[in-house]
Amino acid sequence: MCGIVGFSSKDTSAVGPLLNGLHRLEYRGYDSAGVALEGAEGIKIYKQTGKVAKLDALLKKALPGDEAQKFTIGIAHTRWATHGLPTVANAHPHVSGDGSLALVHNGIIENHAALRAGLEKRGAKFLSQTDTEVLAHLVGAFDKGDLFSATCEALRRVEGTYGVALISEKHPGEMIVARKGSPLVIGVGENETVVASDVSAIVAYTRQVIYLKDGDVARITPDGIEIRSLDFASVSREVQEVDWDIGSIEKGGYEHFMLKEIFEQPDALQNTIRGRLDSRDGTAILSGLNLTPRELAAVRRIVVIGCGTSLHAGMVGKYLFENLADIPASPEQAAEFRYSNPIVGPDDLVIALSQSGETADTLAAVRESIRKGALVASLCNVVGSTIARETGRGVYLHAGPEISVASTKAFTAQVMALCMIALKLGRTRRLSREDGIQLAAEIERIPELIKAVLAQSKTIEQIAEKYAKANDMFFIGRGILYPTALEGALKIKEIAYVHAEGYQAAELKHGPIALLREETPVVALLADVPGKEKTLGNVQECRARRAPVIGIVTEGDAAAAAAVDDTIFIPRTLPSLSPIVTVVALQLFAYHVARLRGCEIDQPRNLAKSVTVE
Ligand code: F6R
Repeated sequence: MCGIVGFSSKDTSAVGPLLNGLHRLEYRGYDSAGVALEGAEGIKIYKQTGKVAKLDALLKKALPGDEAQKFTIGIAHTRWATHGLPTVANAHPHVSGDGSLALVHNGIIENHAALRAGLEKRGAKFLSQTDTEVLAHLVGAFDKGDLFSATCEALRRVEGTYGVALISEKHPGEMIVARKGSPLVIGVGENETVVASDVSAIVAYTRQVIYLKDGDVARITPDGIEIRSLDFASVSREVQEVDWDIGSIEKGGYEHFMLKEIFEQPDALQNTIRGRLDSRDGTAILSGLNLTPRELAAVRRIVVIGCGTSLHAGMVGKYLFENLADIPASPEQAAEFRYSNPIVGPDDLVIALSQSGETADTLAAVRESIRKGALVASLCNVVGSTIARETGRGVYLHAGPEISVASTKAFTAQVMALCMIALKLGRTRRLSREDGIQLAAEIERIPELIKAVLAQSKTIEQIAEKYAKANDMFFIGRGILYPTALEGALKIKEIAYVHAEGYQAAELKHGPIALLREETPVVALLADVPGKEKTLGNVQECRARRAPVIGIVTEGDAAAAAAVDDTIFIPRTLPSLSPIVTVVALQLFAYHVARLRGCEIDQPRNLAKSVTVE
């Protein structure tokens, strides 16, 4: 949510790297974008509403020929609006009272109103409605000759979250960056230092990175990097190597990142599974969980927390833990959980699900659970992310970078990781070795089964053509497939802007059926899971109201295929793994509907990846 880039070098122009970085980070927000560039004549600022491409065009005009070469240090930002409309005035960078300092920020300054009032009393005049501008003024006000300590001084007065980068005409050659609650990574190149909200904007230059921790403030010059805490004590952070390269974050011939990521799922899940199954004893090897058999056996309840797609994966987890491990489990929306004064303690295992590992609501729920003494683990995709670090135990998804705003491969990888945890827990309890072996073998088959669904992309597109004009849709599923129905509805809402609702198949007749008409397609999840026959009954109820039904049906299930108007076949698998195979068909359906409706698939309206505000 909001992307920050900073670039510092002795002799290379910062303009190209800043714009490249913004393009890479655009998935974090795309309401407006801006840069501040430092050269011999001071700082120049360029801002534009809309996508980064518009800023690109503005800079090409403003800095023709060799003009861009004059600027070797700069900061840049792509915004997801929190305070104030997406206007040029509200776009970052913002400047201090005398205009000499430029600052970009990701996060929310909660006490901005009080800080603004204090500054106004001393004569400050603000040009925007943002909380960020207050911070630019505050640092400027504390700057009595040392920008590093002035930034620390200002940040000590800030309540809320921030990733910030700033430069000042009064301190040529210096860039200060800091983080609390919003990620910031420093890329340590041979001839340049690149700062960004995530490594995707850095890997084109270097794979050597420093992940700043909350409370870190760094001073970057072309000669080196110095890190301190907010109270100005020296801090040392190790340089780590990123384990993927630029190819992983390019479209690789696909029209959209979303399609690429849907098609990457066989490989992504192979990576999630690799080295984690013990097919002899029918269990999983999850050393990152760092729990002894005794500790696992002592778990009395599991709470799975997450938001959006991650919450839906967590809801699948409930069925897995209860069916495979006989442990009661409850999925909880992270923000609701956090503010409900949750009853959790040492007998409870709280599992936080987050692709980004930075979602503010999930992070807050993690901290609340740790405070209350629960065992807390995480399933994150982004290595070194805040949630992964703060929980200290968990299972990395290893699904590779997810760039599309709509999450796809993270969902299937999360369900897979939950299934392996349930297998492991089950084997400390009543799950037999034979059943464990059977599940482990089926898990190994999943990448191939996904390929079989992907092979039907054309058929799914043809079905999507029939229904692409619908304004409302329903998705129904039963038991373990109910959360998948929610996920199918979420995908089509967010990328195709179709109003869609996911329901338990049995619940439709208790009210929502009133909405069914010829123009209201129903997508019925009919994989072979307990209760499928009942769902077929619900399908009949829909068709009796003239609603057309699209069935996601197990191959060879002629009865289910005959009961629906259109069929997408998926391969047979165990009920525990049916959400994974089913959801791939729903992802493709949503993708094709969105494409036929001409939607901006990778950057849907009003959304951004990695929601770092509460
Ligand atoms: C939907 C989507 C969001 C995220 C949610 C949580 O396609 O991407 O609903 O799932 O914002 O994000 P993470 O998993 O990063 O915590």
